Amino acid sequence: MKSMSEDKWNLLAKEIFDMNKSKLHPGAMDNKLIAYPEIHRLINRHFKSKKGLQVLDFGCGTGNFATEVSAKVKGVIGIDPSLEMIEIANREGISNAEFILGDINNIPESKTFDIIIAAMVFQFIQDIDNVIARLCDRLNQGGILIFAVHNNRYIEECLRRKYKFYESENRLYIQLSNVTIPVFNKSSNDYVALFSKHANMVKYEVIEPPFSETYLKLYADEIEPAHISKFLIMSYVKK
Ligand SMILES: C[S@@+](CC[C@H](N)C(=O)[O-])C[C@H]1O[C@@H](n2cnc3c(N)ncnc32)[C@H](O)[C@@H]1O
Repeated sequence: MKSMSEDKWNLLAKEIFDMNKSKLHPGAMDNKLIAYPEIHRLINRHFKSKKGLQVLDFGCGTGNFATEVSAKVKGVIGIDPSLEMIEIANREGISNAEFILGDINNIPESKTFDIIIAAMVFQFIQDIDNVIARLCDRLNQGGILIFAVHNNRYIEECLRRKYKFYESENRLYIQLSNVTIPVFNKSSNDYVALFSKHANMVKYEVIEPPFSETYLKLYADEIEPAHISKFLIMSYVKK
């Protein structure tokens, strides 16, 4: 049976995350223009040669990052619990990418990865400790786990401006298009504490990239708090 959260992401697949749309929703374009370039930079910094690498794009959505990275590496597995997202991801027919409908329980048992990406996913998962532990298990020695989440200071300023985020009964929500999704936000210190349970995971880089000029020009009508980074991007290497 589908969960309520899957239904919500299904609604957003075509509306926000389908890159074939003529003008993309800012909630997908910010990933592409601001977060993905930093994720590529981290991969390039960590690996001189990428040709033999296996990538897991966890919470891949419509496969926007998986598609970009597939040209550089040996293989990509994208996994996402939203059927609509996976259907769009499969539309491109990328020969070295496989898109799987599912969550942390559905990563093929035989597979381990050199790179695990989770772009704007962890903040939507309540039991993230368990998910992170299981992703770390699937990372090869020397591999890198990179995740992007909303930056807490950005969320606070959005709440103040009544823009996109709101709180109700002490819970945080994000409004994307006309869909409301619970957010379980954490600070970089929270994530550091969480990763400290995994002695073999060594912090690599923590980045808060600025808004790009291109994004700000394209979406000038948004009331983004553009002086604060929207993203917190953290990376860990398995020793
Ligand atoms: C903001 S979208 C980001 C999608 C994609 N990573 C990107 O860069 O466009 C969040 C994604 O997380 C997925 N998601 C939600 N809960 C999840 C879970 N428990 N495990 C894996 N993915 C999940 C959603 O279906 C959705 O596609």
